[in-house]
Amino acid sequence: MKIALFGGKYGQLGWELRRTLAPLGEVIAVDRDDLDLRDASALEGFLREQAPRLIVNASAYTAVDRAEQEQELAFAINERAPRVMAEVARSLGAGLIHYSTDYVFDGNMGRPYVESDATNPLNVYGQSKLAGERAIQETGANHLIFRTAWVFSMRGESFIAKLLEWSRQKPELRVVDDQVSNPTWARMLAEATALLLAGGGEDMPAYIEEKCGIYHLAGWGYTSRFEWAKQILANDPRRTEQRVQAIQPARTDEFPTPATRPLFSALDCSRFEHNFGLRLPPWEEALQRCMEG
Ligand SMILES: NC(=O)c1ccc[n+]([C@@H]2O[C@H](COP(=O)([O-])OP(=O)(O)OC[C@H]3O[C@@H](n4cnc5c(N)ncnc54)[C@H](OP(=O)(O)O)[C@@H]3O)[C@@H](O)[C@H]2O)c1
Repeated sequence: MKIALFGGKYGQLGWELRRTLAPLGEVIAVDRDDLDLRDASALEGFLREQAPRLIVNASAYTAVDRAEQEQELAFAINERAPRVMAEVARSLGAGLIHYSTDYVFDGNMGRPYVESDATNPLNVYGQSKLAGERAIQETGANHLIFRTAWVFSMRGESFIAKLLEWSRQKPELRVVDDQVSNPTWARMLAEATALLLAGGGEDMPAYIEEKCGIYHLAGWGYTSRFEWAKQILANDPRRTEQRVQAIQPARTDEFPTPATRPLFSALDCSRFEHNFGLRLPPWEEALQRCMEG
């Protein structure tokens, strides 16, 4: 089976998917240096030429604060590109796997969100990701959309990298304790994606058609950024290099940012578990495994 994987060289999730999807077929990993997703006709031409059976889109415009200034770019990558992928998937009879975000919600529900809850993104990034979900649905392509949250890995500019850098520079850290969601190890997300596809049998597009829809898929359990940060520091394999003596809870409104973030955007992943018989491990365990290298 030929698989076109976008974001497969440099993205946190895409990098992991490149490995986990490999046993399923020929993975053609594409990233910005091969194809700029702003160029919709180049994207369409590439997909028609390659004619994959499966398209996996792990690329995205993920700069949440910058998106407030770069609205057009965010929508080009998060809405138009997935729409093109879905249109081509439909005309080729291929399946599409796409990832979305907890930031499609406003965080006011007071309990973990299920798939049927009303969306109401608070920032441009969330609006562009929601528009991407809708664009895919509108094409009628066979798709699986996995909404995930707080993706981490030891690669790239994730929260772990930032926090460890600060911990080596500052004696005291303040981290918000009123933002709550599910920390999700990119590797587990990639493993779960490959596992469910492996369970789908020979006719992948037919399997995706049968399961078609939106699913929440994130690390099991939820926590605040403050608790997450404490666990990151505790699991740091180079703890002796930390300068930080204390970590204090803070409120989101003490750190104004260009993009407003939802406060309680944890995802309830029961529908995914029920449909695929899989669940991601508790976020604390995943974090330990991730940080032990
Ligand atoms: N990170 C999170 O906390 C989080 C939370 C919820 C949901 N998600 C979703 O999960 C998925 C994976 O996220 P991630 O954290 O793995 O993202 P990531 O590390 O930011 O990777 C995104 C990938 O997309 C590529 N890309 C961006 N603009 C492009 C362009 N114009 N042309 C070609 N490629 C381009 C990036 O290339 P460059 O590196 O060259 O820009 C990168 O390889 C995304 O759908 C995201 O929305 C992420």
